[in-house]
Amino acid sequence: MRDLPKASDLLDWYDRHARDLPWRVPPAARLAGVAPDPYRVWMSEIMLQQTTVVAVKSYFEAFTARWPTVIDLANAADEDVMAAWAGLGYYARARNLLKCARVVTSDFDGTFPNDHDTLLTLPGIGPYTAAAIASIAFDQPETVLDGNVERVMARIFDDHTPLPKAKPVFHDYAAQLTPELRTGDYAQAVMDLGATICTPKNPACGLCPWRGSCAAWTAGTAAELPKKAQK
Ligand code: ADE
Repeated sequence: MRDLPKASDLLDWYDRHARDLPWRVPPAARLAGVAPDPYRVWMSEIMLQQTTVVAVKSYFEAFTARWPTVIDLANAADEDVMAAWAGLGYYARARNLLKCARVVTSDFDGTFPNDHDTLLTLPGIGPYTAAAIASIAFDQPETVLDGNVERVMARIFDDHTPLPKAKPVFHDYAAQLTPELRTGDYAQAVMDLGATICTPKNPACGLCPWRGSCAAWTAGTAAELPKKAQK
């Protein structure tokens, strides 16, 4: 039986190669005790739900400069927020953004709740986003499974089960690998691995910190995974 990949190997890689993203506390600062701002983590996760990192960056910078706290956003005029969102698409997200800011301000004193189940009660926050916020903002041991992470799991375990059927299995794989400590950095590290090394096409396996424990690397199947159900 091959050893499971170690979270510590991925975290060591992340400490050297983390992407510089405006909503992210870099790993060195995080390790030095700088805490992420849950408002910024939440804002980034809502914007990233259906939009690429490249497209989100300038909107994230503009929103957080204009409305630096959740209370500032809660007090914004609806039409100002909708106008600032123009171009990002999926406008229900902007309406929910404002609703959520107002609930956090009125019901939670302007402080984001730190647990998955309470986050899930807020407008615009589904299971994935609740797990991402609980993990990245509060270091809760949640399993964060997005498209990038699914691809990494399919390959590590050389699992040819097609998506979406494979989702619950991939969730179990991801849960097995999630560490107890540095869970926020770990979640972002798997995302970075999927975005920069374990890419859909031409994965850069030679640079992968998990190559030694990747079943698809051994089998030579990385580029065919994950499988998708025939349409
Ligand atoms: N996609 C979803 N959440 C993300 C994050 N926090 N960083 C990079 N890509 C993401």
